[in-house]
Amino acid sequence: MIFQIKFLISKKIKLMRFKKIIRAGTIGLGFGLNHAKIFKKSKFCELISICDKENSLKKYAKILHCNFTEDPEKIINNKSINLVSIASYDNFHFKQIMNSIKNKKNIFVEKPFCQNFNQYYKIKKNLKKYKVKFLSNFVLRNHPKFKKIYDLIKKNKIGKIYHIEGEYNYGRISKLKKGWRGKIPFYSVTQGGGIHIIDLMIWMLNSQPKKVVSLGNNFQTKKSKFKFNDNVVSLINFKSGVTGKVSSNFGCVTPHHHTMKIYGSTGTIIVSRNKIELFKSRKKKSKSKNIKYKIDSKYKDKILNSFIESIFKKNKNFNIKLSDVFASMASCLAIDKSLKTQKWEKVKI
Ligand SMILES: NC(=O)c1ccc[n+]([C@@H]2O[C@H](COP(=O)([O-])OP(=O)(O)OC[C@H]3O[C@@H](n4cnc5c(N)ncnc54)[C@H](O)[C@@H]3O)[C@@H](O)[C@H]2O)c1
Repeated sequence: MIFQIKFLISKKIKLMRFKKIIRAGTIGLGFGLNHAKIFKKSKFCELISICDKENSLKKYAKILHCNFTEDPEKIINNKSINLVSIASYDNFHFKQIMNSIKNKKNIFVEKPFCQNFNQYYKIKKNLKKYKVKFLSNFVLRNHPKFKKIYDLIKKNKIGKIYHIEGEYNYGRISKLKKGWRGKIPFYSVTQGGGIHIIDLMIWMLNSQPKKVVSLGNNFQTKKSKFKFNDNVVSLINFKSGVTGKVSSNFGCVTPHHHTMKIYGSTGTIIVSRNKIELFKSRKKKSKSKNIKYKIDSKYKDKILNSFIESIFKKNKNFNIKLSDVFASMASCLAIDKSLKTQKWEKVKI
């Protein structure tokens, strides 16, 4: 009898422990479909509803056993939902974030989380006021290639870094010429692409940008409906004094990929599409060391999974600092401002 009672109590404790207290909804089912699938699979989470303005995507509700709506507000106002993921077009993020904050939902939003400084400060102010958890989807922090580089830097393999460069080579020009990116009122290739590289730089340097200056052109999309720069190059002055350069090259004739060059006092890391090279010598005949890393096809899921876990475990020390999320966004906004003013612009985080 006592044994039976003990067994029932331990079973109940186990059930309580795994009661899914996070109830999620996703808006936008392009890249956002992946958010919904992650919610569905997570042991901490229940997928309540998905949303897309295209009714043809209702089929995913059947597959994922959840509700479907064409109206984002139905997710944002749903009292049973406490985590909203936003993967709509960039120009809708601000309104959907603000409404989610006011409804006290935790928020996971695709980059860029906003498009101008006015929106940026309103989001920042309201996040402070309503104290909800907030994160933007910086997937590259979990890419094995960049994790390896981070480890090399932390292990002091290149000494003190004094310069860092990175390229976001998009290689998907048709998405600018034919897709929504060319149709919404404003699109920034830095906010849409270079932001990932800026985030990596902030993470690797543990320093945030202080000021930026930029140049851009649109040679590759001039004859299309896309009316903005498709190629933007910026210099960054980090608070630590490190110099940086980032490019968002959306018209390049290459497959989609990212590169970096990181120069330190005792070594240099050169990262191309599929290779990390570590240089430890200036000698003419010296060879670089080819640093191996393992491919991880699931790396894109990791940031959202760890966000879910941090909400579930009420973990305040989440591994991406909120101030970094704001620093990379503010850097992109300053870069876009500099394209207009043609001057150095302060990054007002
Ligand atoms: N973190 C990353 O690596 C990454 C990768 C791709 C896209 N993204 C971001 O995801 C967002 C969406 O891009 P995508 O490539 O998935 O586009 P997409 O066109 O593939 O999908 C977007 C979907 O959202 C729907 N949608 C748009 N606005 C909506 C609204 N207001 N209400 C309801 N549904 C809406 C569209 O109908 C479409 O089905 C963008 O902000 C983009 O920058 C991030």
